[in-house]
Amino acid sequence: MRSIPIALMIIPSIITCWAQPHRFADYVESTITSLADVPPPVGPGVQDAWRQTDALIAAYWSSGDGFDGKDGKEYTYGEVTGVGVRQLANAMGVPSAEDSSINFYDLGSGVARLVIQMVLDNPAAINKSVGVELSKERHDVASSALSRIRASDYSSDLLSKVELSNADALKFDFSDATHIYISSLCLPRSVLEALQDIIFTLDGVRVVAALNRLDKLEVSSEWDEGQDVPLRMTWGAGSAKIYRKRTGE
Ligand SMILES: C[S@@+](CC[C@H](N)C(=O)[O-])C[C@H]1O[C@@H](n2cnc3c(N)ncnc32)[C@H](O)[C@@H]1O
Repeated sequence: MRSIPIALMIIPSIITCWAQPHRFADYVESTITSLADVPPPVGPGVQDAWRQTDALIAAYWSSGDGFDGKDGKEYTYGEVTGVGVRQLANAMGVPSAEDSSINFYDLGSGVARLVIQMVLDNPAAINKSVGVELSKERHDVASSALSRIRASDYSSDLLSKVELSNADALKFDFSDATHIYISSLCLPRSVLEALQDIIFTLDGVRVVAALNRLDKLEVSSEWDEGQDVPLRMTWGAGSAKIYRKRTGE
């Protein structure tokens, strides 16, 4: 019964916007923006844990970390925000996975906020969380933050599940991965294709996420079609494609 008044409120605004294309575009953009701001629904206990993780990230990284422009803002660089990491984890099925069943890899991990938040937000599900970063400068920022946290009051056994490598993802062994996130906007098409070829050879990979369409997975009969999910990025509302391997059940 409650859905009728809501429909009565929404439908006229869609019709009004549709009749005026620029207003319809604004309506779509604002709807997508607000979806990208919504964290997954969780109970109060989890929200308290999230607040601690947010405080830790704010304490050990500065907002300009990873950005190498003169003013600390290189506009070709961008990251998944704290809310976005939660949206991504939820869409990849991380919080509901069995204990210690996930080997998470971030291929192109930047300053590793995402890799570390993934463990702190999902302590039971994650077996290890691995960041692979090509840039030595960003890898050094990531390693320094991790070392300082390990030496601090925040230190937690969970951080032993984090591994950071300064390497080219294409040459890195991620053969035990179960869940992979690729910052695909930063990677040339040839690298993305080569990564998908490697993923096809790995039996244990169950879920792959990327910021844009992965053409080879998209047409593979072994993988479901990519599912779009809203993701809050540092540059605003974004979205990710989530690919799940077919189980044959
Ligand atoms: C924009 S950052 C993303 C950081 C983090 N994954 C996130 O989404 O919040 C992408 C990173 O990919 C790195 N990168 C580009 N090509 C790579 C490669 N072949 N192997 C590993 N890292 C690479 C870049 O140096 C950059 O730091």
